[in-house]
Amino acid sequence: MLVLGIETSCDETGLAVYDSERGLLAHTLYSQVALHADYGGVVPELASRDHIRKILPMLDQVLEKAEINKRDINGIAYTAGPGLMGALMVGGSMATALGFALEIPVVGVHHMEGHLLAPMLEENPPVFPFVALLVSGGHTQLVSVNAIGDYQLLGESLDDAAGEAFDKTAKMLDLDYPGGPILAALAERGQVDRFSFPRPMTDRPGLDFSFSGLKTFTRNLIEKHRGGDLLPDQQTVLDICAGFQEAVVDTLVIKCQRALQQTGLKTLVVAGGVSANSRLREKLGVALNNNNGDVFYARHEFCTDNGAMIAYAGCQRLIAGERSGLALAITPRWPLQDLTIPREIN
Ligand code: KG4
Ligand code: ZN
Repeated sequence: MLVLGIETSCDETGLAVYDSERGLLAHTLYSQVALHADYGGVVPELASRDHIRKILPMLDQVLEKAEINKRDINGIAYTAGPGLMGALMVGGSMATALGFALEIPVVGVHHMEGHLLAPMLEENPPVFPFVALLVSGGHTQLVSVNAIGDYQLLGESLDDAAGEAFDKTAKMLDLDYPGGPILAALAERGQVDRFSFPRPMTDRPGLDFSFSGLKTFTRNLIEKHRGGDLLPDQQTVLDICAGFQEAVVDTLVIKCQRALQQTGLKTLVVAGGVSANSRLREKLGVALNNNNGDVFYARHEFCTDNGAMIAYAGCQRLIAGERSGLALAITPRWPLQDLTIPREIN
């Protein structure tokens, strides 16, 4: 089955063509980072308008790259949520209209299921069951995954998501938008143990997270080392970045190990934007290796938002017979655990 995938949930327009026989044939990605940079965050209305501008030329582009014609497509998958309402509607409307015109099935996909299944696009994919750590700008969740659509939430962030904490901390340090990857790059040049950052909620049982205290700790540290209106000196900024990143990474690693122990599973899948973080990969690699476990990621470009993960997840659901109707079903708030196993797998 040849599936067109469309992602427009936030500030990336992503399109891809996935073939159930031959794998990923092509993908295109356009990031709106420059558009939102001046505002220090995503402006929803600007995001929707830019998706509208980009989506049709990108459709032509991805079909050309895949060396196929519109008529060759057998199904379409779009991100139906969670995400920004207006932005989601752009991808959803195009998918539904195109599906109607071509008389092919269309399915709405959960964005985080897309992230969760992105490592399946790699040469050596994980095998069910596994524990998934979903770490993005909007979510930090530990999920027990039995099969596609069979998800049990083990724990989640009670306040900020890990990516959000990275972005907010970067903002406090006047780093450019989006701050997460920039902060991570600076952290490599800092000293991890100059300041003792807390590892929130690791001293008590459970698999939930909380990152807002870490943010406050960082804010106080910055205030303490500020020279008047000026930021702390360069080395102190680097050391704060390193200490902050280390605290987030350690917290995530501790909770992942705990989740594996609790479920008795040996396989961990890490997905979402923060899974691109090198220090997280390094420390999870060591931890899992010590426990005879395996850890799987998507390739770097598929850790953050993209169309390939939506094409893949949608293809699995379309093959199982799942369909969304012509009435656009956008769900900006949509818990992952509400998903069900696609019919034929059931
Ligand atoms: O999955 P994603 O592209 O979008 C959402 O669904 O939210 O994740 C974006 C998030 C942002 O918060 C970004 O700062 C963070 O992932 N991120 C990183 C890194 N690369 C992206 N955080 C830490 N280290 C990175 N290397
Ligand atoms: Zn995402």
